[in-house]
Order: sequence, then C-alpha cells, then structure tokens
Amino acid sequence: MPCPYTGIMNDLTNTDHVFHREVGRDYPVAARASGVYIYDTAGRRYLDGAGGYFVVNIGHGVTEIGAAIADQLARFANAHTSHFTSEAEQKFADRLIALAPKGFAKVWMSTSGSAANETALKLVRHYHLVNGEPQRTRIIARWNAYHGGTIGSLSMTGQPRRRDPFEPYLLDFPHIEPPYCYRCPFNLTNPGCGIACADALEREIRRVGPQYVAAFIVEPVSGGPLGALVPPAEYLPRIREICDRHGILMIVDEIITAAGRTGRNFGVDHWGVVPDIITAAKGIGGGYLPIGAVIVHHRVYDAFERKGQSFRHGETFAGHSVVAAAGLATLEYLERHDLIRRAAEMGAVLGARLKTLAALPLVGDVRGLGLLWGLELVRDKATKAPFPRALNVSDMVARECANRGLLVVPGVGAVDGIDGDTVSLAPPYIITRAEIAELVTILGQAIEAVAQKLGA
Ligand SMILES: Cc1ncc(COP(=O)(O)O)c(C=O)c1O
Repeated sequence: MPCPYTGIMNDLTNTDHVFHREVGRDYPVAARASGVYIYDTAGRRYLDGAGGYFVVNIGHGVTEIGAAIADQLARFANAHTSHFTSEAEQKFADRLIALAPKGFAKVWMSTSGSAANETALKLVRHYHLVNGEPQRTRIIARWNAYHGGTIGSLSMTGQPRRRDPFEPYLLDFPHIEPPYCYRCPFNLTNPGCGIACADALEREIRRVGPQYVAAFIVEPVSGGPLGALVPPAEYLPRIREICDRHGILMIVDEIITAAGRTGRNFGVDHWGVVPDIITAAKGIGGGYLPIGAVIVHHRVYDAFERKGQSFRHGETFAGHSVVAAAGLATLEYLERHDLIRRAAEMGAVLGARLKTLAALPLVGDVRGLGLLWGLELVRDKATKAPFPRALNVSDMVARECANRGLLVVPGVGAVDGIDGDTVSLAPPYIITRAEIAELVTILGQAIEAVAQKLGA
C-alpha cells in the first residue's frame, strides 16, 4: 500500500517514518509504565532492569513529578537564562550541592550527559586560560569509557566501535587502560598489584608532557561495555593524588552514578575522593525530562570569579525551568523516601542473587556496586576467552530477556574494543525483593537459552 504521507509504494513497515536506532528492527510500542514495569500496546509487560538506560531511579509513573512539571508549566515554562534564573533552577542547584562532596560551589545546568561532558571539556580549557596556562589543552581519558556522542565527548570516549566512523572529526586525546581486574591489562592481581592501572596515568602525563594536560576524566563505576567495572579501593585516591601533583583537573563522569545509583549520593563517595568537576545527568531527573549538570568545585569557580571572567558557553535549554522543576521533584522524592539508602540495600540483594548466576555456562564474572551490576559473558570460563564478535552474544541474551519480559543493557567490546560481551543492570531503586527474584530468574533462563543455542 502507498505510504499516506509520501505516496511511495511501501510495505507496511516502511510507512514508519522514525529513523530507528537499529535499521530493520521492529520495536514494540510503549503504552504506559508504572513502578518497575513498562507495558506495550500489545499488552506485554517488561521489567525495566535497565532503568531505561541507567536512568530510572524513583520508578515509572510517579505522579508527584508530573504534578511538579504541571505546576511549573502553569507558572511559566520559558524565561531564558540569559535574562532570568528561576526558583526551580535555584532550588535544584541547592539540592545537588547538598548531595555533592564538600567544597562544591556551583551547578552549571545542561541538557544531557553528552552536553554536560562537552561543557566540562570546555570548562577545563577555559579554567586553564583564565589561570594563565593556555597550553593545557589535552584531556586524558580511558579506553572503553563512554562519555557521550557529541564530538568532544566522543573524543573522550574510548570505545572504538563508537569512535571509528567519526575518527577524522575527533580531538587528539590520549587514553589509558581502565582498572579491569577481571582481565588486568598488566597481568597483575589485586590486592598486590600496586594499582599499576592508576600509575598508567602518571606515565601518560609524562609522555604527553604535564604542562600540556588540562584534565583526566574518569567514571567511578563504568557502565557501557565494561559492565559495572568497580575500581580497586586505592585507584581513585591515587588518581586524585597524581592529578594534584601535576596541576591537572579531575573530572568525574557521574552521568550514570549520580543521585544514588551505587548506593551513595555520588560514586566517588565510596572512596572519599573529591574531584574538581562532577558531570551528572540521567537519574538527577529520574528519567522524566532530559537533563544534565556540571557540578563545579569552588577551586575551579573561584578562578573565574577572581578574574571577573564568565564561562563563554551556553545552551538554549540549559536551566529550563520545567526541567529544573522535574529534577528538583526527583531529588526531593529520593530524599523523602530514603531511596539512596534503599539502592544500597536492594543492591546488596540483587548482587547476591546475580552471583548465583556465576554457576551458569557463559557467565565469567559478576560485578557491581549498589544497583549497578554487570555480567561478563565468556566462551570459556577457565581461559576467559570471549565469544567472536559476529555472534553478538550480549544482544542474543538481551533479546531472550526481552522475549521473557525483562529489559537489560547489552554491551560489546569489553576485552579490546571489539570482542567481549557484557549485560548490565540498573533497575529502579524501588525494586522489591520479589521483583529482584523475577529479574534474576528471567536473566538466568535467557542465559541458559543462549548457551543451548550456542551449544555451550
Ligand atoms: C558514563 C556516561 N557518560 C555520558 C553519557 C552520555 O549521556 P547522554 O546519553 O545523556 O548524552 C552516558 C550515556 O549512557 C554514560 O553512560
């Protein structure tokens, strides 16, 4: 039949005008969501074990957030930040500063995780300019980290699969190995390894020349293909010490870990580390509206204030009053219901249950913190040999899960940017013990079904 809009003769699926993430895939149509579940128009129910994509923390369908959005809309939606601030923006910033480690002074609002990291990239450059060190332009990042899809944030991203098509556009930023204890890149074992992965930063700084390095960016607990990689206890403190020694700013990407995902306010709180800049997004708005924030330590802000210089950057919708109202309502809801403590409590329950899956074929490692967990899937548990990329084993598991009513995050390229399959979980903090049992049961069944298909 011809498409009613274009008149082009198409089959039915091609009358869909959405440029979907995956070409040729038929997506279910979401109809409504409540608590930890999303329902599609065919009446199927999905347990949101992915939290959207490391986002949904207070749960789906919380009416208070809708009410806060409606209330702000009724007063005003758009009073641009070049002319005004708003009560919602002020109060949201107050809340974020109250959650952040001591010494953080200001919040620069943004619109997404990528935009927050792009903002941080420009902020560190501007900071060094203001400080009279214009030669500090290089940002060191880590292989396999994900920092976003815009050109600056993609330049810091260390995933070859995401970088490859755009390599000619990317900034020349060095990358070091992550603290990947399951496959230590230095063939060492923790404890006793001397945290060679942190010393890799020291070596890279010397290689580049400390006087040229502006910042190091690091996720406290990695999501993406690395599947909830938790660093050894000494890693982040050592990184802080190396950055300090060389006058380099430490940016911590808390896009997925902010607002309690790991069971503490921010991921860095587990190690008592105070960075110079924290980027946040996703959960600070509960998933209700697109949001981002750059939380700035007074050390950085004071440099601008001392010189009477403003940060030359801006986004039309950063600081939007309705977004800020949704963020404020989310942070208030987290506090009112003590949900960060609950994330720690339910995280321990989820972690203990997931560890029982280590007995299944394919499951090489189970790791995580709070309500952020990852499973690494391997062809051979003894040698840790990964599956060939072409098999797309993490996608196979994700599809088997979805067919059984569970959403997870598949990850690829953990080992070397190409091979290595992971499945990550980041359910809402309101998840109950019974729902955790359901999640782990379905995940186990899906893994067994894939193992059977692969003859593993
Ligand atoms: C650690 C991390 N940083 C940055 C981003 C980019 O955030 P966004 O997709 O909101 O642009 C993501 C997204 O998944 C992320 O996981």
